Amino acid sequence: MSDTAPQTADGKVLWHFAMSLDGFVAGPDHEMDWMTGVSVRPGLHEEYVTTTGAILGGRNGWDQAIDGGRPYGGAWQGPIFVLTHHPEDATPAAGVTFLNCGPAEAVRIGLAAAGGKNLEVFSPAIGRQLLELRLIDEIDLHIVPVLLGDGIRLYDNPGGEPVRLHRVGDGDPMAAVNVRYRPAT
Ligand SMILES: NC(=O)c1ccc[n+]([C@@H]2O[C@H](COP(=O)([O-])OP(=O)(O)OC[C@H]3O[C@@H](n4cnc5c(N)ncnc54)[C@H](OP(=O)(O)O)[C@@H]3O)[C@@H](O)[C@H]2O)c1
Repeated sequence: MSDTAPQTADGKVLWHFAMSLDGFVAGPDHEMDWMTGVSVRPGLHEEYVTTTGAILGGRNGWDQAIDGGRPYGGAWQGPIFVLTHHPEDATPAAGVTFLNCGPAEAVRIGLAAAGGKNLEVFSPAIGRQLLELRLIDEIDLHIVPVLLGDGIRLYDNPGGEPVRLHRVGDGDPMAAVNVRYRPAT
């Protein structure tokens, strides 16, 4: 099976994450050091810098961002929207708008700000809500060769119904993805 095609800027709502092989997008205390040393295909970073019009995140993710660090190592400059039930105690930051509204309204605001490019959703909790509302266009993942065993899951919905997916790209949309790893020595 081939790698994904380069991302395109089509005004999509993307649930976009680097994820451990066992489905975590952050460690138990929001650690992200498990991504250190991982290589990606040439140009991947730039793909997202150019196709992303706006970012929608959750308050926990924002509060954990080091010194208000911006996505893509600062290479991307665009509007960031952070959903929170208590925007009044958020630390203001340039280019960041704290929203206290429903997830559908947050998407409407984010897409309007994205100006025809994609809205990236950087929050597991908000992505789950948007899936239920059928407002996610694509789930875009970069699988990191590590098993974390604990942390914040991409999709945490105990007792929920399975969410069926179709693979984007050529070929059978129901095809399983085969990967093969060995423990690193
Ligand atoms: N692996 C990757 O590529 C990647 C990318 C981005 C982020 N991350 C990580 O992902 C983790 C995300 O953390 P998380 O899952 O704990 O939290 P989160 O999704 O970032 O934030 C959850 C918070 O968002 C707010 N929220 C969610 N839905 C809301 C709604 N409908 N209305 C109002 N507010 C709403 C609430 O904040 P209030 O409690 O303030 O109301 C909620 O507590 C972070 O560790 C971050 O570093 C990983």
